[in-house]
Amino acid sequence: MIAVAIDGPAGAGKSTIAKMVAKKLSYIYVDTGALYRAVALCTIQNGILSSEEEKITAMLKHTVIELKFIDNVQRVFLNGEDVSDKIRTSEVSMTASRTSALPVVRSFLLDLQRDIAVKNNILMDGRDIGTVVLPDAQVKIFLTASPECRAKRRYNDYLVAGNVSESYEDILKDILQRDYQDSHRATAPLKPAQDSVTVDTSEDTLEESVNKIIAVIESKLRK
Ligand code: DC
Repeated sequence: MIAVAIDGPAGAGKSTIAKMVAKKLSYIYVDTGALYRAVALCTIQNGILSSEEEKITAMLKHTVIELKFIDNVQRVFLNGEDVSDKIRTSEVSMTASRTSALPVVRSFLLDLQRDIAVKNNILMDGRDIGTVVLPDAQVKIFLTASPECRAKRRYNDYLVAGNVSESYEDILKDILQRDYQDSHRATAPLKPAQDSVTVDTSEDTLEESVNKIIAVIESKLRK
């Protein structure tokens, strides 16, 4: 099986780019952020704060999170309910960034991620895929872009969707805060794996980024 690990900060375009690359290569795209978001949603639904580690530990004992691939498209289930759409809110984003720092949450989701990689050719995106989850992945990419560029893209996405409830400045602030939280946690912080190739998409169009990633994958697999 072939595993491509794509790590990088929030808003670097990982999911959009990785989805397109996976389609071209006929790999399964796995968005691991959705798992952390499902845990975060569960804490919110139970009125548990991200600082309440013991309560989260107890909650996880009777929490079931599953990933299913329907026509190769990932859906995430929390205790049997498809929560793929519910997890896409700023509240869940910020809560996930905090709860994902807890070792109990990370170990809860580890086997689930590894099991998928055993059975399929995958392109898996996250923060610690190349460093922790799949240290033996054949290809490791660290996908990044400047915070300003990431905030601008997200703002434009909201404009296109007709939903401009957040200003560019607020989005930038959120991105900087999440970057800090994700890269300064003690367990599995966001950082490039030693053997990863860094791809900066700040100056690229979507198509250029996709082509760059495919070129990296092809050159690594040829070796
Ligand atoms: O990629 P995303 O924005 O959906 O991820 C949501 C949060 O989950 C992010 O702030 C960090 C965390 N996360 C993580 O710690 N490890 C991963 N492999 C994926 C996401």
